Amino acid sequence: MSKWIASAPANIALIKYMGKRDAARNLACNPSLSYTLSNLTSTVELELVPHLEDSWEPLQTPDTIKLPLNLAGQQRFLNHLARLKQHFGFQGHFIVRSANNFPHNAGIASSASSFAALTRCACQALAELTSRSLPFITEQARLSALGSGSSGRSFFQPWALWQDENITGLDLAYKELLHKVVVVQAEAKAVSSSEAHAKVSSSLLFANRPERATQRLEKLIACLQNQDWPQAFELVWQEFWDMHALFETASVPFGYLTAESMTVLRVVRDIWQREGDGPIVTVDAGPNVHLLFRPEQQAMQQQIAQRLHQFTLLG
Ligand code: PMV
Repeated sequence: MSKWIASAPANIALIKYMGKRDAARNLACNPSLSYTLSNLTSTVELELVPHLEDSWEPLQTPDTIKLPLNLAGQQRFLNHLARLKQHFGFQGHFIVRSANNFPHNAGIASSASSFAALTRCACQALAELTSRSLPFITEQARLSALGSGSSGRSFFQPWALWQDENITGLDLAYKELLHKVVVVQAEAKAVSSSEAHAKVSSSLLFANRPERATQRLEKLIACLQNQDWPQAFELVWQEFWDMHALFETASVPFGYLTAESMTVLRVVRDIWQREGDGPIVTVDAGPNVHLLFRPEQQAMQQQIAQRLHQFTLLG
C-alpha cells in the first residue's frame, strides 16, 4: 500500500494556550483546556512517491472545502512531516493532500485539526513503512504539539487538558455540548497564532498571565465537574478577554475582534443578563465567536441563531 488517510477534529480552548516558554519545543507558558469539535474536521492523505522531496496539494473530496494553503502554511505543514519522518528514521517522500470541512485560518482552530490529522496519518504510514509499532495516543498528541501546540489536544474527546508536556483526556460532568461558531468573517487573519504567541510577551499584562490562567483553569474544572454552568460561563468569558487584552496591550498592539464580533457578544451578554442562562462563549485568535450549549438548550440556540440571522453558524 502506498496511500494512507486520516481525519482529526478541531478543538476550542476555554482556557487558552497563549505564549511559549520554549518556542523550539512549543512548550506553553500556561496549561490549557479545550472542548473537541467533532463536526469540524481536517482530513490528510499521504501518498508515498519516488520523488526527491515532499509536496502539498489540496485533497479533492466531495465534503471538504478546497481552500489552498498559502506557501507559509504549506511549508509549516511539510516541516512537521519532516519532523515525523525523522522521528521514525524514514527517508522516503510523500505527496501530502489535505482539506478541512470548514474555512481555515479564521479562528476556527484549523491548525489544530490539520496538524492532528497529519500526525495521525503520518504515524500510521511511518509505523507501517518502518515496521515499528504505532505510537500510543499520548505520544502521537505530544508529537503533534511539536508542529502546532493546540493540535495535541485534538487527540482526546470531549475534553482535553494540556499541562507542560502532558496532554490527556478529562472526564467532566458535561459529556456532550452543542457547538456553534458564529462566522462573522471567513477570510484569513492578518496575525497568525504563531505570531501572536511571540508578540504577547511584550504586554505588561503578560507577567502574571500564567498564574491567572492556572487559577482560572482549576476553578473551571471544578465548575464543569459540579455542573455550575453560570460560573463556568463567567470564567470562560474572563479568559478570552484576558487573552484579547494581551493582544491589544502588546508593545505593537494588534487584535482580531471586529464590530460584528462585538454584535454577537452583546447578543449573548443580553441573553445571560435577561435569563440568567445562556451559552458558554469564547473567541480564539480570530473574529469568530464560539458558543457552547448544554443539550437541553436547543430552543435557546435557535433563538440566538434567529437574532444573528445575518451570520453563518457552523458546527
Ligand atoms: O496551536 P497554535 O500555535 O495555533 O495556538 C493556538 C492558540 C489559540 O488558539 C489562540 C488558543 C488555544 O489554546 O487553542
